Amino acid sequence: MALAIAILEKAHQRSNFDCGRLILDNYIKRLASQDVKRDLAVCYVLCDSPDNTVLGYYTLSSHSIKLEELPEELVKKLPAAYADIPTILLGRLAMGKAHQGKGLGQYLLIQALNQCAGLSERMGILAVMVDPIDEKAASFYKAYGFTALPGSDRMFMTVKTILASQQG
Ligand SMILES: CC(C)(COP(=O)(O)OP(=O)(O)OC[C@H]1O[C@@H](n2cnc3c(N)ncnc32)[C@H](O)[C@@H]1OP(=O)(O)O)[C@@H](O)C(=O)NCCC(=O)NCCS
Repeated sequence: MALAIAILEKAHQRSNFDCGRLILDNYIKRLASQDVKRDLAVCYVLCDSPDNTVLGYYTLSSHSIKLEELPEELVKKLPAAYADIPTILLGRLAMGKAHQGKGLGQYLLIQALNQCAGLSERMGILAVMVDPIDEKAASFYKAYGFTALPGSDRMFMTVKTILASQQG
């Protein structure tokens, strides 16, 4: 099986995508291409190159959060004049059930984080945000260094942390 990450196109086969979470299955089957068309997200798919079957996917969008949403120790280091803090939203991430547990979810996450780190060389980005779908997803992200925003299920990882983990 030859695997490649590509930007979602019509030719990508996704009608049988099943990651175990209906909302994420429906997203790639029905909604992702509309979000892409409307410039709301870019959807990256991990596909099996001979027949273009989508094995997994993630989406990235530009995003911002309010300064006061961040943990106090981070807020202290930032100028109060920046009420909106530039971030990237890793909006969705899913691996098909048949391919889970083989390191491919990790591969997708690391690709996404590397892309965000690359973008941060060209534009200001403080952190990458995720909205874990459930506790399991939150523990997956936690294992890679994401932490929860105070009083929220939303999690973040600063670009500085991503860059440091690339070096370590
Ligand atoms: C979460 C998901 C993307 C992980 O993909 P995967 O291919 O099964 O994960 P991998 O095989 O790459 O696992 C990588 C590592 O993460 C760990 N891991 C996987 N799921 C985990 C979880 N829920 N909690 C903690 N660690 C987890 C694995 O044990 C592995 O660690 P190891 O290398 O030390 O053994 C996949 O299970 C999925 O799509 N789930 C349904 C949708 C979902 O929850 N998406 C998350 C975003 S909302």
